[in-house]
Amino acid sequence: MKAMRIHSHGGPEVLSWEDIELPPPGPGEARVRHTAIALNFSDINIRRGGFYQKDPLPMPLIPGNEAAGVVIAVGPGVTEVKIGDRVGYVGVGAGFFAKTGAYAQERNVPASRLAHLPDGISDVQAAAVMLKGLTSSNIVNKIYRPERGDHVLIHAAASGVGLILTQWCKHFGAVVIGTVGNDEKARIAREHGADHTILYRQEDFVPAVKKIVPAGVRAVLDGVGKDTFEKSMDCTAPFGTLVNYGNASGHVPPIDIMQLSLKGTLSMWRPGVSHFLGDADRFKTLCAELFALVEKGVLKTVAARTYPLGEARQAHIDAERAEHAGPVVLIP
Ligand SMILES: NC(=O)c1ccc[n+]([C@@H]2O[C@H](COP(=O)([O-])OP(=O)(O)OC[C@H]3O[C@@H](n4cnc5c(N)ncnc54)[C@H](OP(=O)(O)O)[C@@H]3O)[C@@H](O)[C@H]2O)c1
Repeated sequence: MKAMRIHSHGGPEVLSWEDIELPPPGPGEARVRHTAIALNFSDINIRRGGFYQKDPLPMPLIPGNEAAGVVIAVGPGVTEVKIGDRVGYVGVGAGFFAKTGAYAQERNVPASRLAHLPDGISDVQAAAVMLKGLTSSNIVNKIYRPERGDHVLIHAAASGVGLILTQWCKHFGAVVIGTVGNDEKARIAREHGADHTILYRQEDFVPAVKKIVPAGVRAVLDGVGKDTFEKSMDCTAPFGTLVNYGNASGHVPPIDIMQLSLKGTLSMWRPGVSHFLGDADRFKTLCAELFALVEKGVLKTVAARTYPLGEARQAHIDAERAEHAGPVVLIP
């Protein structure tokens, strides 16, 4: 079978489309024929290297850790799934950055980590929504749930996670201010519920936010990181919450904790979705809740841009140029 592998860290050119051997599924494993594989920004971080990893990763390595597909074989002792089941997974039990391997036509996955896909959710939808939706769920259910009328600033509101957060915050009655990279992304963010959009590459978002809500926003939800996080303290209301969930522009520099007092008794979070999904049963429950919200139309299906898996290199290039709005899915 074919897989996209890297033999060393580097630019998109290190992604290599290769023939590999996959052993039969071991005890507790199911072999999944992938039909839709998520491209996540963390795949780019893994490919680049030196981001979250403390120890060197074993090479060659197959990136990716989120996919949907069908079970085609099961190993000894598997009771959770059977051949023919439609399933999806996010990570395989360790951290999302560890034990990757989704950029492949097939993969052996611990059966306990597979969630069944409902009939109303297509494979592409599942791959588009699982990690991004569960990251959003972690934020709105565990960290900050908007109250009706709260102003919330969502950076990169037209990103994969940003579009889901925008819809979820609107569902709770928030007024959403979204920063976006261009006019087309502004249109898409508004289509998904953003009340205001700010072209943050063209104008300073702090005065732009203050013009909309002089008292400041109740919360900032930020997947951009380095370019936006620290400044966001200047447009957050007293007792507001700042959530940095991602680093598309790079790591947030260290922040002096005294700033939280000086800027308004703020609180600050840096969630990692792996802690939220650690337990396999919990993962399945959270997926079922997420899929139900998609099926009910609370979270509109975000149209995913697709690439053949063999063209993952181009997909990475486009993602690094911030060309996409919404999720990207690779088709094996
Ligand atoms: N904490 C967690 O567990 C968790 C889970 C999932 C994702 N994440 C992280 O959340 C972030 C967003 O994920 P996503 O899936 O929404 O990503 P995405 O769809 O690829 O969107 C990233 C967006 O960030 C903006 N951006 C700003 N500076 C950028 C730069 N230098 N390079 C590329 N993009 C830049 C761009 O939007 P504009 O053009 O509008 O500026 C871009 O579209 C990533 O850092 C990802 O690793 C974290």
